[in-house]
Amino acid sequence: MKVVFLASECAPIAKVGGLGDVAGALPKALKKMGIDICVCMPFYKAIDHEAYSPLLVKRSLVVPFEDKEREVDVYKTELPNSKVPVYLFKNEYFLSGGGVYFSKSAFCESHREVQRFAFFSKAVLEYFRAEKEPVDVFHCNDWHTATVPLLMKTLYKDDPVLKNAATVYTIHNLGNQGISELMLLDELGIRREDLDTLDWDAQNRDIDLMMQGIIQSDVINAVSPTYAQEIMTKRYGAGLEEVLQGKSGRVSGILNGVDYQIFNPETDPNVFFNYSLPNWQEGKRKNKQDLRHSVHLDDEGTTPLLGMVTRLTDQKGLDIIRDAFPTIMKLGFQFVLVGLGDPTSEEPFIRFAKEYPGKVSINLTFDLKLASRIYAGSDAFLMPSKFEPCGLGQLIALKYGAVPIVRATGGLKDTILNGETGFVFSPYTAKALINCLIKVREGFSDSKRWQDIVETGMSQDYSWDRSAGEYITLYKNAIRWSHER
Ligand code: GLC
Repeated sequence: MKVVFLASECAPIAKVGGLGDVAGALPKALKKMGIDICVCMPFYKAIDHEAYSPLLVKRSLVVPFEDKEREVDVYKTELPNSKVPVYLFKNEYFLSGGGVYFSKSAFCESHREVQRFAFFSKAVLEYFRAEKEPVDVFHCNDWHTATVPLLMKTLYKDDPVLKNAATVYTIHNLGNQGISELMLLDELGIRREDLDTLDWDAQNRDIDLMMQGIIQSDVINAVSPTYAQEIMTKRYGAGLEEVLQGKSGRVSGILNGVDYQIFNPETDPNVFFNYSLPNWQEGKRKNKQDLRHSVHLDDEGTTPLLGMVTRLTDQKGLDIIRDAFPTIMKLGFQFVLVGLGDPTSEEPFIRFAKEYPGKVSINLTFDLKLASRIYAGSDAFLMPSKFEPCGLGQLIALKYGAVPIVRATGGLKDTILNGETGFVFSPYTAKALINCLIKVREGFSDSKRWQDIVETGMSQDYSWDRSAGEYITLYKNAIRWSHER
């Protein structure tokens, strides 16, 4: 089975969030299971040439866009520690932007952002067309690559090379939809009459690429079973709940995994003192001390240290943390955070750092090394998300012995067992969070109980192998459905 996996980011080549981790890990697991898979992503300026030595495999691929014949150079490299080929698509005008996304929060804010990913998606299809390389499945991820199923149902529906390929669309975050002006269709060369007018917001003359991905793909999945159900409801559906309900027979949930080759406290080169289950207590003590020194927290012996590694956006529960913050301090926690995001979300945390010197450390940067040290050095890991499609932080935290404190939503609900591997609360309120933290505080004081929770958590296995098998079934279903088109 030949699968082309498209994503806007892919770790470690270029990564901003969890989508990048999935794109860097799932294809490796699928390859091990015998799938002939490659990854396609834009060639961003920030990609490290020396580390990946990309080779030019196609010069001047012609991709019509905006009434022009634009040219794309295609390069090839490999995912580290694997034989998974990665194709990098390069075009100065659209694809060479420095960072992965234009906005710090990773959310789509302009037509130009939508254009470049739509153009990238078209370039990928043009590449396989030009190579006359039959593909069984195009696996697209989030709005950035949702143009692929849209093009497959319109412009390329009779194309001899592409027409038999199935499309799989994975929803990583319904909150970010890639909404833009309808002229995108003209720019792509799609005739408006080829699309059902109900499929776009005719009144606002908008096109919503997330919605197109859902409507046009053969099968759709979300990144956890709970999120797959939640998005059918008004509360979590971000306006697309009815569209999703309309395709409910084709929507499923598959939990993400973790790449334990990368996220393993025993081997992680960013961890100060490597450790594993048998010596976790020594590891935690040494890493906690090192972390406190490096982020300027007081050396307060056994005070529990709460860690967060997060994008600073609404989704991540920052507003309830903000409201609960004075109480969290009174309960006697130290707090360390690393991440980037919206200035409005950052602002209160900057204030807390000033108000509680030695107790609170706020690091507003993207720093994978510090992230690893927070997982290794914190006693507990805070992730009280408003919604969480899957979440990777809680899974990494489990492996590093930082007890996850999560809200019961999406993948958090599917992976953390209250009182057994972590602490779980439900209502999205500061009060519920505080009540939960009171229980954490009690648990932490009972060292035998805490040890049980940490050790049960560290023993959980969320590797990709199981989920990769579910994706193979999904691919087979997509191929079956595509024959019925
Ligand atoms: C998005 C979601 C996160 C998920 C990740 C990978 O970043 O917010 O919950 O784990 O995608 O699927």
